[in-house]
Amino acid sequence: MQCSECGRIWHVGGDRCPRCSAYSVEYLREQAAPAGETNGPPHNDEEATGRGFSRREFLVGALAGGAAASVAILVPVGLTEWTGGDGNGATGAPGVVVATFQRTKIASLSDLTPGEPLDFEYPLEGQNNFVVRLGEAAHGGVGEDGDIVAFSYACTHMGCPLIGLYKDEHKILGPCGCHYTTFDLKRGGMVVLGQATENLPQITLALDGDDIYATGVMGLIYGYRDNLADGTRAEVTA
Ligand code: FES
Repeated sequence: MQCSECGRIWHVGGDRCPRCSAYSVEYLREQAAPAGETNGPPHNDEEATGRGFSRREFLVGALAGGAAASVAILVPVGLTEWTGGDGNGATGAPGVVVATFQRTKIASLSDLTPGEPLDFEYPLEGQNNFVVRLGEAAHGGVGEDGDIVAFSYACTHMGCPLIGLYKDEHKILGPCGCHYTTFDLKRGGMVVLGQATENLPQITLALDGDDIYATGVMGLIYGYRDNLADGTRAEVTA
């Protein structure tokens, strides 16, 4: 089970988080599922978008309270529904303003050396992230071995920069220079030590030949009310 509020994972003890008593993601997903529906293959619109989440997951996030913290765990924050177009502007259904993440080339596969992060800004200028080839399969990883992942450099506790703190031996980022939070990059940026309660925002990736693209962000980048608000979209960098 994974907590819908603080992200903690547990295996026994029911549907509520032993740390903060919030319901588990699995429980909320069950409640949101139409009668008779189980955890089966992804909904068609997920497959159509290729963005790794479905409309139902979005609704589950809303059920969890509509709070940003809840949404941050379940869906790319700021990415609500793909409605076509070039992916670079605001669009949406009547009465609904929907902002989409731009698909941006961030690196070339051939430039990636295992264990050595490459930096990039996304989705806005000044939002610093890195992409790294871990050498071991990871949650959300892309590539032949599923080991290429990307994350924000901003610590989710109080925003201290985590640049230069990747430890390839353990596939972790940290400890943070401010209060020691450390994030597990093989497990979606989960907190394994320190003060933070939110996972490190993970940049969703797509591969097209030798090109690595950023397509969205799972989680809210520290210091932003919305990952896509109050800034200038980062340019294509590679
Ligand atoms: Fe990183 Fe506090 S800012 S642990």
